[in-house]
Amino acid sequence: MPETDCQTVQVKLADRSYQIGIGPDLLANIDQFIDRTGQWVVITDQTVDSLYGERFCDSLSSSDNDVHRLVVADGEHSKSIEVVDRLWQEMIQIGIDRRATVIALGGGVVGDLAGFVAATYLRGLDLVQIPTSLLAQVDSSVGGKVGVNLPQGKNLVGAFWQPQQVIIDTQVLQTLDARQFHAGMAEVIKYAVILSNDFFDWLGENALAIEKRQPHSLQEMIARCCQFKADVVAEDERETTGQRAILNYGHTLGHAIEAVCGYGKFLHGEAIAIGMDFAIRLACQLGRVSDVEIERQRKLLTAFALPIDVPDVEPEKLIEAMYRDKKTTDTKLNFILPDRIGNVDLIRDVDVSTIEALLTRE
Ligand code: GLY
Repeated sequence: MPETDCQTVQVKLADRSYQIGIGPDLLANIDQFIDRTGQWVVITDQTVDSLYGERFCDSLSSSDNDVHRLVVADGEHSKSIEVVDRLWQEMIQIGIDRRATVIALGGGVVGDLAGFVAATYLRGLDLVQIPTSLLAQVDSSVGGKVGVNLPQGKNLVGAFWQPQQVIIDTQVLQTLDARQFHAGMAEVIKYAVILSNDFFDWLGENALAIEKRQPHSLQEMIARCCQFKADVVAEDERETTGQRAILNYGHTLGHAIEAVCGYGKFLHGEAIAIGMDFAIRLACQLGRVSDVEIERQRKLLTAFALPIDVPDVEPEKLIEAMYRDKKTTDTKLNFILPDRIGNVDLIRDVDVSTIEALLTRE
């Protein structure tokens, strides 16, 4: 990658290692950042397409590059096997062969969907992730988790399919709507709580600059998050040792809220913010942290307009959904819980009555 203002982070995975480039205006100069030629399938959604699709594909097109753009509807509903099937059919019709590269140009939905198409079409194509939402830039574009939802739950079909490259243009965040931006901040705060008290303090000190989307603050914040994620993924690529599971902080209740309230009522990051507040209260109930830590986390979440109150639904429904969401045959409810800001552990088999009591007190 060229020097410019671009920062790089390495994801170290032996022969599947790759680089994340982070900087302003990378999309406008995409030809400088992509070091291969051939057939390209750009998968994007309607909103991103209307903002960047045509310009992006024009700047990628050349006599050596044959670029095809496939557009899906906005929203979580596109993460379905029906949409994957349509994309597979379109790619067959165009004549996409196994030397082609898929580009996922969009937020978390597009990254997961296009990544799954790349992982499965003709037994696997190369993939470049170009995330355009804050949530995708700091989390879902890095680490190779790709997949689709089933009516029974989120991400139940998928693969680990690492990209060859991740290109993060921080400038695109300037046009991201405020709600989406704040939802991405939930995942940013998550890294701080699970891994770094120092980063937590940095976020507090820089909250105003971040809220104003000051370019240097955004770039530093995203680069630090990508480094955290790269380190965790390098330790436990397939979430088998428990290391990667710490990234699921706030997700046990967060996923249940999404499922019970209907996908779309809460953005993923909003549900995770509520889940993080619940998790730290649960940690306090179990004697792992004090009220001070609950307040510190609340202050940072609410500084970015994130919700913390559990929605008004029956606790039993949420508990049922927590059991359903699990991707193991383990029948116990496990939580990632802090013992201070900057460190978490996987706590197995939390007593359901404790969870119920905390949900009921809302
Ligand atoms: N977003 C959680 C993970 O990538 O493991």
